[in-house]
Amino acid sequence: MAYAKILGTGSYLPANCVSNDELAKKVDTSDEWIVARTGIRQRYIAAENEQTSDLAVQASLQALQSAGMEAQDIDLIIVATTTPDKTFPSTACIVQQKLGIPGCAAFDVQAVCAGFMYALTTAHAYIQAGLASKALVIGAETFTRLLDWNDRRTCVLFGDGAGAVILGKSDTEGGIISAKLKADGNYADILQVPGVVKGGQIVGSPFVAMDGQAVFKFAVKTLTKIGQEALAEANMTAEDIDWVVPHQANLRIIDSTAKHLGLSMDKVILTVQDHGNTSAASIPLALDVGVRDGRIKRDDVLLLEGIGGGFAWGAVLLRY
Ligand code: ACO
Repeated sequence: MAYAKILGTGSYLPANCVSNDELAKKVDTSDEWIVARTGIRQRYIAAENEQTSDLAVQASLQALQSAGMEAQDIDLIIVATTTPDKTFPSTACIVQQKLGIPGCAAFDVQAVCAGFMYALTTAHAYIQAGLASKALVIGAETFTRLLDWNDRRTCVLFGDGAGAVILGKSDTEGGIISAKLKADGNYADILQVPGVVKGGQIVGSPFVAMDGQAVFKFAVKTLTKIGQEALAEANMTAEDIDWVVPHQANLRIIDSTAKHLGLSMDKVILTVQDHGNTSAASIPLALDVGVRDGRIKRDDVLLLEGIGGGFAWGAVLLRY
């Protein structure tokens, strides 16, 4: 039986940090409103010439360094992103080219804010099946490019960034304990970017459209349920969890889900205040923050949870 363990983590944020007050100069909002409704205080926005793959590569180099590995050691690259550099080739292939490691399997997964849960679970399955032994799993987004900066209901919520982990095969028990993925396409309308390119034209709006309250309710309900299911499958309870690393959409969603799971907020790694919602990047970014500041230690039990458009959601329970 093969196990899959996180061998290293890394992350990257663009240089341009935009506070709520700065945003309020361009759109009719305020720091008070944004903090009270979401917990967000600032977000990072990629430079015009910075692509999702550039953020991904920076996070990957850090993850490789923290695992004590060379890029050449990687035999699988999965990038979770909703904001690929191009329609094709995949951002994973572009990352592979920039890392200078042609040959290994490389592909993207698209599950919006649940993307990293899908990517990590897929890499886990590859390792268990003997198809890979050292996977580079990335969540990377230039999500702010999907925002209508005149729509205050959405533009205050998101940011850009990337996080990466190296998931390695291990013969000793530990690593990923339980991984669960779900989706329900019936909820597509409450969060989407409807526009597509057809015949050289964008057909439909190219910006994020969201029913905030419907998303809020659905997120709390499903994240609570899937967290409970992951724990039950592992024969564990909330007491066994050392750290929750949730998707960082909104402080109130995170707080409410923690309460429903019977977890104290002291056990939750929070970055939403500093990063905003970076979609597929938010979980690996938060994980890297928790590891680097010394809160997350080897052998800690972590619950990672994410949800996003689709709707798609997932949870991964692991021993770090
Ligand atoms: N600044 C100031 N006022 C605003 C802003 C803003 N940025 N946005 C909306 N408002 C106003 C509205 O126009 C409305 O005014 P009105 O009463 O005069 O019409 C008022 O605030 C209340 O609007 P609501 O939409 O009812 O506000 P709500 O309390 O639901 O908060 C929010 C909105 C923060 C989006 C909330 O619904 C939420 O957190 N939903 C979850 C959405 C989310 O996290 N999405 C992320 C993507 S999905 C994911 O990652 C899980």
